[in-house]
Amino acid sequence: MLIFKKVTDLRRWIGNQTTPVGFAPTMGALHDGHLELVRMAKREGCLAVASIFVNPTQFNDPRDLEKYPRTVEKDTELLLSAHCDALFIPSVEEVYPPGENLRIELDFKHLDKVMEGKFRPGHFEGMATVVNRLLDIVRPHRLYMGQKDFQQLSVVRDMIHQLDLPVELVMCPTVRESDGLAMSSRNMRLTPEMRAAAPAIHQTLQWAKSALNNKRPIEDIQSEALSKLAANSLRPEYFEIVDGETLLNVGDHNESDFIVACTAAFAGEVRLIDNLVLK
Ligand code: PAJ
Repeated sequence: MLIFKKVTDLRRWIGNQTTPVGFAPTMGALHDGHLELVRMAKREGCLAVASIFVNPTQFNDPRDLEKYPRTVEKDTELLLSAHCDALFIPSVEEVYPPGENLRIELDFKHLDKVMEGKFRPGHFEGMATVVNRLLDIVRPHRLYMGQKDFQQLSVVRDMIHQLDLPVELVMCPTVRESDGLAMSSRNMRLTPEMRAAAPAIHQTLQWAKSALNNKRPIEDIQSEALSKLAANSLRPEYFEIVDGETLLNVGDHNESDFIVACTAAFAGEVRLIDNLVLK
């Protein structure tokens, strides 16, 4: 696996390749969910390029940025084991050259305003800016991203559409621990008590799926789900049942053919998100 720190070196190497490039951007502290993006790119015949960059512009809470786990040596080994072809680990100056304004100012309508957008102001603008910048550096054929961050995918899909970027977005299913907890770089910060409580997030999403199948009113499902999370020592921020395309609330199960439940909850100090396709 080649490791690049400079944009010019990575661009030169990619320019010499004849195989299509599959790109998996990450913020490091890698786990099996990240590695699955790389494996999927390889399975689909791509050269796999991963990046590790803890993007300061998408953290609305400076303490979250400060506490974000950084484990580059272990990450490198994991990427090697997943047969990743190249790793890009740029500095902040490489991604954001001083004096250049790369900020993306697109109108994502409500896509970046609901759910995560409401609780993390500026997060999606920062995320879209860095993904756009990384796409401009790597120029991949395919972009591999996880369903775990469902709303992030919706925003990136919309950005690709609005800017008419020549890249195919591939969604990878959420990889989970055996007890259902969605893998996340943040899980390593959970205390043993909170690690034991956290699977209630996935259990509640599954409960919501069966409740929707049983035609329970959506408003009741949402409020009962919030109570279930709280009863498991979690502090939920939201539990929304939305249309999978528009991310707008669904009033009734007949209103849409693609319904997703999305939730965010604090387990102690650690903010976790997850989602499940209900229909
Ligand atoms: P990060 O949280 O490191 O996630 C990188 C990619 O891995 C994202 O596409 C995310 O959806 C995916 N991922 C994380 N956990 C997963 C899991 N359990 N199963 C499947 N995929 C999973 O998301 C970001 O970084 C950043 O916002 C980024 C896109 C890199 C821009 O800075």
